[in-house]
Amino acid sequence: KKILFATSEAVPFVKTGGLADVAGSLPKYFNKKEYDVRVMLPKYLCIKEEWRNKMEYVTHFYMDWKCDSTYVGVLKLVHDGITFYFIDNEGYFGGFTPYGDIFGDVEKFAFFSKAVLSTLPLIDYRPDIIHCHDWQTGLVPVYLDNFRFGNEFFRGIHTIMTIHNLKFQGTWDTKRIREITGLPDYYFAPDKLEAYKDANYLKGGIVYADRVTTVSKTYAEEIKTPFYGEKLDGLMNARSNCLTGIVNGLDYNDWDPAEDERIDYNFSVEDFRKKKVKNKTALQKELGLKVDPKAMMIGIVSRLTDQKGLDLVAYVMDELCQDAIQIVVLGTGEEQYENMFRYFAWKYPDKVSANIYYSDPMSHKIYASCDAFLMPSLFEPCGLSQLMSLRYGTLPIVRETGGLKDTVEPYNEYEKTGTGFSFANYNAHEMMAAVRYAEKIYYDKKRDWNKIVERAMKKDFSWNNSARQYEELYDSL
Ligand code: ADP
Ligand code: GLC
Repeated sequence: KKILFATSEAVPFVKTGGLADVAGSLPKYFNKKEYDVRVMLPKYLCIKEEWRNKMEYVTHFYMDWKCDSTYVGVLKLVHDGITFYFIDNEGYFGGFTPYGDIFGDVEKFAFFSKAVLSTLPLIDYRPDIIHCHDWQTGLVPVYLDNFRFGNEFFRGIHTIMTIHNLKFQGTWDTKRIREITGLPDYYFAPDKLEAYKDANYLKGGIVYADRVTTVSKTYAEEIKTPFYGEKLDGLMNARSNCLTGIVNGLDYNDWDPAEDERIDYNFSVEDFRKKKVKNKTALQKELGLKVDPKAMMIGIVSRLTDQKGLDLVAYVMDELCQDAIQIVVLGTGEEQYENMFRYFAWKYPDKVSANIYYSDPMSHKIYASCDAFLMPSLFEPCGLSQLMSLRYGTLPIVRETGGLKDTVEPYNEYEKTGTGFSFANYNAHEMMAAVRYAEKIYYDKKRDWNKIVERAMKKDFSWNNSARQYEELYDSL
């Protein structure tokens, strides 16, 4: 079976969040004898030159676009055994970041979605299934429906729409989207692309895809309710026969504390007790925190947005800083949160380190060095950061929602089970109680703490299980 991933980002080329981790690593974990999985993404100018230089020219053509014909280049690069195709058009993909404002992005990704399909007859690769990811590729199933009318080539190609985040839907005024996409009026109806008077790309993908998935079982249920449904809960219910949740995995080769070259001291479940402390003191030195091997260090690596529950953190940060803990933050995003962490780092320089930038190596160091990892999300389709933390023996403190609920088992001191700490309600003091409970175990019951770490590190969140579930889904089409 031939499967093509259509995505707006993929590691190692371009990443702004977990979608890139998934789209770049999952393809490696299919049974190669049965599944030929390739990936197609835009050739952004912000992809590092070392990668761009390695890409080979495949073909180019001119695509009907906005009453004109527009250049589409196709390049290719085989990385780690996976073929990646890159769609080139400097007008659309020449920015410093993959995404800009939504006004430009709806046009950019309509172009990309149409180009994905238009490319296929020219590259000697006809997928059986196109697996689309998030709103940026939501128009692929819609264009496919349209292309099928006149063209034998496209008949019989199936589509899957995977929702990584229902909050982002790609919406704009219907009139403009009709002009940009060139799609017939027929598609702009409330049972198709239209939602609340606007055109909505993700909705189009959900309506037209043969199957819809999201990235955890709990989120698949949550999005059928008004609180999590982002106004599409009705549609999610309507499509619930075709909707499944498959939890994300991690690339265990890339995220391996025993081999990771980005961390100071490698470790495994055998020797984490000594080595994690060494990583911690090294990081304390590097970030200018008080060097104290005993201090409990809590990490946050995150996009700094409302989704991630940072208003809860802001609310009790002063109180938390009275405790014997250190907090290390790595993230970028909304200014209010960036400034909030900068402020507390200024107020408590021994205890709080605010690193307001994006750095893959620094993220690895934080996962390796911290004792606990705080992720109190308002909603979380899956979450990869908590999986990275578990893998590096850093105990997650999470809110019980979406993938966090499915992957972090709360510590039970009577049964001696669990891999982290959790709380249920979106409430700052409930979160603080969970943090303080973790502090208590860390300081007063170190042996129990270390047992939790052992269990966390032994959990298997590699792609092996989830890739099999995707294979079953592909086979069902
Ligand atoms: P989301 O996709 O909603 O942002 P995930 O937990 O699924 O959340 O994935 C986030 C990914 O982005 C993780 O790999 C995390 O380590 C990474 N990440 C987030 N912020 C930063 C940052 N400032 N620097 C480096 N990596 C980051
Ligand atoms: C989204 C979600 C996150 C998920 C990631 C990859 O960005 O916010 O929870 O892990 O996609 O699926």
